[in-house]
Amino acid sequence: MRIDIVTIFPEIAEGPLRSSIMGRAGEAGIVDVRFHDLREYTTGKHRKADDLPYGGGPGMVMKPEPFFAAVEELKTEGAKVIFLTPQGKPFRQAKAVDLSKESHLIFLCGHYEGVDHRVVEALVDEEISIGDYVLTNGTLAAAVVVDAIVRLVPGVVGDERSIEEESFSGDGSRLEAPHYTRPAEFRGMEVPPVLLSGNHAEIEKWRRQMAEERTRANRPDLLGEE
Ligand code: ADE
Repeated sequence: MRIDIVTIFPEIAEGPLRSSIMGRAGEAGIVDVRFHDLREYTTGKHRKADDLPYGGGPGMVMKPEPFFAAVEELKTEGAKVIFLTPQGKPFRQAKAVDLSKESHLIFLCGHYEGVDHRVVEALVDEEISIGDYVLTNGTLAAAVVVDAIVRLVPGVVGDERSIEEESFSGDGSRLEAPHYTRPAEFRGMEVPPVLLSGNHAEIEKWRRQMAEERTRANRPDLLGEE
């Protein structure tokens, strides 16, 4: 899978995506993540990437030309172009699963008040938001989305059961049950005895029950209760 990230701050995405599991996926050649400085696609003496908004209002708007130049250079047949914006569709695990099957994704990251809307209209296949809050820059959001997608690509996560059994997988309606490791007793707090029992049916039952309780406490919306 190839991924291109186009941003005026490539270093914001490079840190997280070159470390740990994401870094190893790149080194192993499972994914090819490329970082592009949008300024490289600007023209003129001042390499200007933004300008004042038509119609007035606060802040600056990112100019269309460098985004068009970047996409025209990077796009391959069948590539999907994604724009990160708080105005996008909410990002969910099911979308990460869909996108993990693509062969080429191009992420465009905004900054300031926004990006000239002709970019969205002419270049973008999907607008994605990572949540109902506003970041200073879409690059952090791109790193989040890329991480969620890449870990689903076969071979990236060592034990693929951890992907099958996690929160939001399957029908997406339950959070995961809590996990424990050694020691069995720590500062007076004991690991639930059922987990030490070796009784797999009972462990499974306990996990389902805990998943239900945690979902009710933290995400009643997933149970249709809010
Ligand atoms: N850019 C700024 N805020 C964002 C968000 N919540 N999701 C995606 N891109 C963004």
